[in-house]
Amino acid sequence: PAALIACAVLAYLLGAVPFGIVMARVFGLGDLRQIGSGNIGATNVLRTGNKAAAALTLVLDAGKGAAAVLAARALLAEDAAQVAGGAAFLGHLFPVWLRFKGGKGVATFLGTLLALAFPVGLAACGTWLLVAVAARYSSLSALVAAVAAPVWAVVLGRADLVALAVVLAALIVERHRANIARLLAGTEPRIGRKG
Ligand code: G3P
Repeated sequence: PAALIACAVLAYLLGAVPFGIVMARVFGLGDLRQIGSGNIGATNVLRTGNKAAAALTLVLDAGKGAAAVLAARALLAEDAAQVAGGAAFLGHLFPVWLRFKGGKGVATFLGTLLALAFPVGLAACGTWLLVAVAARYSSLSALVAAVAAPVWAVVLGRADLVALAVVLAALIVERHRANIARLLAGTEPRIGRKG
């Protein structure tokens, strides 16, 4: 129990590192929260036009979820891995470093899933990519991928992941309320466009 709590706290602190903000600063792109949607994720970094910074944000935000899972699995056990993944995700959404105002969790969710169950993570990433190619909305891709993730978990024989996937997907949908309103109004910017 003490080890599990320590694991959750460390995973949370890692998840709370806002790599989008860090990358925007490192690349001299300014304050990400004053750009585009104001979100701290890779999609919004891409609106600065800097693809390398956006790609690094995606990899690092996904990587922190994956790293938390892999470390917990190596040091403790499989249920600790799920706790760590969930905690890293919550860290991204509610980061202590940003007065608890964090991001939408898509990259961290995908990274967490990839590390928890690679086929399920791959299926969720594939879903994101398919919608992104077809519709060119990052938010819509995220919404479809998030909702599909628990379904993929069942289909791919990882029913043990369904509860976590449902909770994280629900948080992702909640975080996309403004995006959903823009999608319905036809004002959501397509991937890579400033807006
Ligand atoms: O990953 C977040 C994405 O789904 C939406 O980001 O900046 O368009 O609100 P943004």
